[in-house]
Amino acid sequence: MIESPYQPAPSRYDDGMSYRRAGRSGVLLPALSLGLWQNFGSRQSFARVQEMVHYAFDRGIVHFDLANNYGPEYGTAEENFGRLMERSLRPYRDELFIATKAGYDMWPGPYGNWGSRKYLMASLDQSLRRMRLEYVDVFYSHRYDPRTPLEETLQALVDIVRCGKALYVGISRYPLDAARFAFDYLAARDVRCLLFQDRLNLLDRAPVTSGVLPLAAEHGAGFVAFSPLAQGLLTDRYLHGVPADSRMAENRTLHGDVLTDAMRHRLQGLAAMARQRGQTLAEMSLAWLLHDARVTSVIVGASSKEQIAQNLRALASAGFSDGELAQLDALAGVE
Ligand SMILES: NC(=O)c1ccc[n+]([C@@H]2O[C@H](COP(=O)([O-])OP(=O)(O)OC[C@H]3O[C@@H](n4cnc5c(N)ncnc54)[C@H](OP(=O)(O)O)[C@@H]3O)[C@@H](O)[C@H]2O)c1
Repeated sequence: MIESPYQPAPSRYDDGMSYRRAGRSGVLLPALSLGLWQNFGSRQSFARVQEMVHYAFDRGIVHFDLANNYGPEYGTAEENFGRLMERSLRPYRDELFIATKAGYDMWPGPYGNWGSRKYLMASLDQSLRRMRLEYVDVFYSHRYDPRTPLEETLQALVDIVRCGKALYVGISRYPLDAARFAFDYLAARDVRCLLFQDRLNLLDRAPVTSGVLPLAAEHGAGFVAFSPLAQGLLTDRYLHGVPADSRMAENRTLHGDVLTDAMRHRLQGLAAMARQRGQTLAEMSLAWLLHDARVTSVIVGASSKEQIAQNLRALASAGFSDGELAQLDALAGVE
């Protein structure tokens, strides 16, 4: 049987998605983006990967967040994305904003990790081959490397843009002083930092308390929030135990020991507040992030298109009164 070619939904830009400007740049990103860290690699059926990515694109999610080692196994999320490029997405390349990163362990030996020029250059070449792309839209230094001179890492980013392998660059999870240095170094070379990526959710406000989120805004970089649902904790998934098909049951990056009685109590309080607002806990958690105008995009993960569908409903959320924001802080335990 001949497979009928994929036709994206004609309504994809007219279906509730909003687009936010990334700092002081020309780039707009969807308020919700899709991250391919887990559930998009070789342990997942390709049909499922395709279903989730097409579902997202059909609803205006044009920003896909990858990294060299996403999968699992390492590299296989990019490989699957490359298969999608070949099979269905190539005609829409100019509608897509594709991110990848290097900074964590990827291949053995001294050149497959951290922040050297040697690693970043080789890794991006590998990513482009896997994704069957000529360039990515944004390439990130995935983490600060305290043992490599920061100038070396940043100059590699500058040169990557200059040779056309990435249109923009970003940094992820940099501490405050290193982030400040990076913003200045890149700006002085006319390769501004487009995006700063960090973990931010109702339970973890570190980028706000450390000052790195306001710093990014001050330097004209957009802020991209990852793990907005605390890897699934901030959903209805763990309110009554640990489902067998959940990330926590898999016990790789989300471990059962976070689900203490105190945490369960916090989650139940937050879920009750969400219900009062006519939302799920996931919808309310995402709406809370989107309430902050400094957040350019929220990158959600998902293991089904139904989860993506539910998360998209956060876009239609009513705002929060000051009283509700204070109540959320109290319930989340971050007063
Ligand atoms: N820069 C970095 O260092 C860094 C680090 C981590 C992540 N990221 C990026 O951020 C992306 C998102 O991170 P994340 O996967 O931790 O995000 P997340 O959105 O906090 O967690 C995603 C998980 O939550 C569950 N979930 C999502 N929507 C749900 C819903 N509506 N109802 C019930 N459960 C739901 C699913 O868990 P189940 O699988 O259990 O169903 C899903 O896999 C990654 O894919 C990656 O692109 C970047």
